[in-house]
Amino acid sequence: MLSKEPEIEVTPVAGALGAEISGIDLSHDLDDNTVAQIRQALLEYLVIFFRDQDITPEQHLAFAERFGTPVAYPLVKGLEGFPEIIPVLKLEHETVNFGGLWHSDTTYKECPPLGSILLARELPPYGGDTLFANMYKAYEGLSDGMKEVLSGLKAINSSENPVAKSTRQARLDDSGKMPAETVLEAIHPVVRTHPETGRKALFINPGHTVRFEGMTEAESTPILDFLYQEQIKPEYTCRFVWRPGSIAFWDNRSSQHNPINDYHGYKRLLHRITLEGDRPF
Ligand SMILES: [Fe+2]
Repeated sequence: MLSKEPEIEVTPVAGALGAEISGIDLSHDLDDNTVAQIRQALLEYLVIFFRDQDITPEQHLAFAERFGTPVAYPLVKGLEGFPEIIPVLKLEHETVNFGGLWHSDTTYKECPPLGSILLARELPPYGGDTLFANMYKAYEGLSDGMKEVLSGLKAINSSENPVAKSTRQARLDDSGKMPAETVLEAIHPVVRTHPETGRKALFINPGHTVRFEGMTEAESTPILDFLYQEQIKPEYTCRFVWRPGSIAFWDNRSSQHNPINDYHGYKRLLHRITLEGDRPF
């Protein structure tokens, strides 16, 4: 009897997005068929989760490299010996959690990431869950009139967005990675077409978008605020409860995320690898 490649098991966790993948040990090299199945699940569910993966930084990196090119993160220094892996860390005495608001990652870059692969190392006894939201649904749920207003519009995305800046811990400002005054800015379409699925997604976010191109902040804000509320309707979201060894792999082109800051007094450490993306169109 011919042996068959094992099929991975993909279990959706919510109606809008998110699926848990089981039957796979990421400490082993993956065959091409398995990689293709995982990629398909990522495109279909926007964020995929793995449990109980006891993997080393080398194995984390090897897994990431099957899906793209890891890139260094602009604002945070990597692990010793692994510049592509950044620690996402909140210490017991800290009150601010990194990226603690709804956002897609680093949309102030010309080519924002394809996605990220985040691995839980040390967790608080409760809390610190992450919310994800589906930006295809956020776009598709708009009226035809609003879709028409947004079509062809571009938005300015900046690392200086004051809301996002307030979610960066003070210790990161002297990590030596970038001078504190460096401002990164990029202009992207408000509605982007996903390069792999061809579907349209709403590509503004409260973390980094500051205004529409050709308009003032005052003119842009009412529409942006409306869209930010649309993007996070409960029925467009899912919530992931971490355990040590859990992994979340999200598609940054079609989703947003929001780590919940509800575990003051406890340490939380995750390791993150970010994959290079292309220029949104
Ligand atoms: Fe993020």
